[in-house]
Amino acid sequence: MESCIRRIENDIENITKITATPQMGCTRFSYSKEDKQVREYLLKELEGLRLKIKIDGVGNIRAKYVGGNEDKPSIMFGSHIDTVANGGKFDGLTGVISALEVMRVIKENNLSLKNPVELIIFAEEEGSNFGITMLGSKVLTGKYGLEDLKKIENDEGISSYEIMRNFGLDVENIGNDVLKKDEVKAMIELHVEQGGILDSEKIPIGIVKAIAGMKTYKVSLKGVSNHAGSTPMDLRNDPMVGASEIVTYLEKVAKEKGLPSTVATVGKIHCQPNMPNVISGEVDFYVDIRDVEADGVETVVKELEKKTEEIVLKRGLKAQIELVGESDSVRLSTKVIEAIEKSALEKGFEYKIMNSGAVHDSAMLTELTEVGMIFVPSINGRSHCPEELTDLQDIKLGCDLLLNTVIRLANE
Ligand code: GLV
Ligand code: MN
Ligand code: MN
Repeated sequence: MESCIRRIENDIENITKITATPQMGCTRFSYSKEDKQVREYLLKELEGLRLKIKIDGVGNIRAKYVGGNEDKPSIMFGSHIDTVANGGKFDGLTGVISALEVMRVIKENNLSLKNPVELIIFAEEEGSNFGITMLGSKVLTGKYGLEDLKKIENDEGISSYEIMRNFGLDVENIGNDVLKKDEVKAMIELHVEQGGILDSEKIPIGIVKAIAGMKTYKVSLKGVSNHAGSTPMDLRNDPMVGASEIVTYLEKVAKEKGLPSTVATVGKIHCQPNMPNVISGEVDFYVDIRDVEADGVETVVKELEKKTEEIVLKRGLKAQIELVGESDSVRLSTKVIEAIEKSALEKGFEYKIMNSGAVHDSAMLTELTEVGMIFVPSINGRSHCPEELTDLQDIKLGCDLLLNTVIRLANE
């Protein structure tokens, strides 16, 4: 049994047209009008397959084919449809389109399976609205509740609760939507690698054994805003220069004190008043620290705290360091890894067992169920940018592997 490459291509084409930044990559934040349009497209497809559809209070879409096994746990598979700003066409969407295609093939072949199969589309994976990655799966697994959603805000100070409610979601109900252990037997997510290992080694499939953990901090430095021309250099308390010292130090620490797998990034920064002729009064920046080994993350966190303290003293600033989001590194299920390997061998696909430096919603489900991930190559290892690219043939291969693995797990 095989997926249909034309349908996959058609879905990708139809969906990637929907972006808030035409000619400048895909920008499709959760709860935006672009998100709404993509949801409408996908829901129409899912309704056409006569699946049992549920949209939870945070916006995760679940579409189940029960097939006479109402009381049994599902084999879940899917990914996310939101993107970063000016992101690529393939991050998240590849897994969602593949999951849709798997469901089509299962339904059109009228397969009888021992377990239900359930497609899931996670909301707000990228953290583009609120700076917290995997919010949809964190709510689904009970890591965040209603009170948290009332406190979590976007840059304009609007709460996630309000944004979700305005999007038409039943946010008040999230407590009842929490995924239970007996609802799911396994979770598999197909995703683009987002790094260059598979592409450079010309291997079409990655089977993920561990997903990196991450911590995201918001660092706020307050100094003294003043005139850029009339304030002598030795009479300044400039938070911008303080921030630049910390940013540069983080690169050094991740390289020299972290593990080979440790990474640290400052990708978002705001300053006030943001004028060429004014010394900033305040600078806020986000620090994203990741590693598959928890020690690597902790080393950088300690250094961030130490360096910020030093800079505050040296430059007469005030600082606040706030942990805005975190997830632990996780090992994936040996059972699902073996199932994917068996399927790959059966189909004659070459594969590599590897780690994921990016985070994924699937990681949130590891306490509840057996989780596995399939990677397909990212050309030149580019991701979270408009240049992100994956070959359609590789997506088909990944989709066929997903299909084979889902059937295998649903019938064992
Ligand atoms: C999500 O794509 C992440 O790894 O930040
Ligand atoms: Mn993703
Ligand atoms: Mn992403």
